[in-house]
Amino acid sequence: MLCAYAASQSSSDPLSGLVIGERPDPAARPGWSVVTLRAAGLNHHDVFSLEGVGLSADRLPMILGCDGAGVDEAGNEVIIHAVVPSDGWVGDETLDPARTLLSELYDGTLAERVAVPSRNLVPKPAGLSFAHAACLSTAWLTAYRMLFVNSGLTPGATVLVQGAGGGVSTALTQLGAAAGFRVWVTSREEDKRARAVEIGADQAFAPGARLPERVDAVMETVGAATWSHSINSLKSGGTVVISGATSGNAPAKAELTKIFFRQLRVVGSTMGNRTELERLAAFVVNKAITPAVDSTYALADARTGFEKMAAGDVFGKILFTL
Ligand SMILES: NC(=O)c1ccc[n+]([C@@H]2O[C@H](COP(=O)([O-])OP(=O)(O)OC[C@H]3O[C@@H](n4cnc5c(N)ncnc54)[C@H](OP(=O)(O)O)[C@@H]3O)[C@@H](O)[C@H]2O)c1
Repeated sequence: MLCAYAASQSSSDPLSGLVIGERPDPAARPGWSVVTLRAAGLNHHDVFSLEGVGLSADRLPMILGCDGAGVDEAGNEVIIHAVVPSDGWVGDETLDPARTLLSELYDGTLAERVAVPSRNLVPKPAGLSFAHAACLSTAWLTAYRMLFVNSGLTPGATVLVQGAGGGVSTALTQLGAAAGFRVWVTSREEDKRARAVEIGADQAFAPGARLPERVDAVMETVGAATWSHSINSLKSGGTVVISGATSGNAPAKAELTKIFFRQLRVVGSTMGNRTELERLAAFVVNKAITPAVDSTYALADARTGFEKMAAGDVFGKILFTL
């Protein structure tokens, strides 16, 4: 079957290890289902895998991709939940120290077909297209948990989203606006700042800008480049929720004094569980949210999407259709 897989890894030239080519069909196994994909999505995670971050070389070749929606063997339209717990794990799968995401241990979704544990299939609401359903598995699920589970925010609060253009960031903006938060964003590019306002942000600022007032919470995925600004932008008692560090995980200043003196909370957040994915899908349909899509390609042209993401040239999700 056609797929996009990592054949080798390079931190300096990650796309050199990307192959768009043929791999064997997934094998059926007890308790698992094979899904024929209709749409799949790209995440920064896929670029990190090609860099050798989070995917060990002894697991290559590995089909990439965490996001997907399609049809299972029984004809059900499904969204794929990408978090795979270890055998016998009970409880929230994101707390399993041995959990993996699709494409880390088991082949991922950038393929014509993928095998996943049957419990990882979430019914796709009829009102959601396959393309928009494929946006939800990773970036949108992560944004949902950051905002609605881990931030402690209630509607009416002001939240700052760092780095407006990414998949997680656009999801944070659209979900936050739909839930009644005042969403402020930063972006390096004027065009992305304008587009963030179009999809629901109240105001958009250049990175590091002084805000009109301090905010209740900051949503961090950029990491080192924005960390000090995030800490400085919080009200006393405010919360920074962090789920990524695209620009690096060693900020010039950890800001420890400000964190304890102003009694800030730093909350780590990773993906979400199956129930949260179901609720996210329902929320998106109930609020008639149209996820921001940067661009859509046939899977055969996936390399163009990877190039865009590696260059940071994105506003919303990059999707592949099958
Ligand atoms: N913990 C989890 O479960 C989880 C799940 C999903 C994603 N993540 C992580 O979250 C991050 C974002 O993922 P994504 O898929 O949304 O990636 P993406 O689409 O590539 O987004 C990258 C974003 O980061 C900003 N950015 C990148 N480099 C920057 C820099 N040097 N300075 C300032 N801003 C910078 C960009 O903002 P502008 O261009 O607008 O300035 C853009 O919005 C990644 O690190 C990813 O691994 C974690």
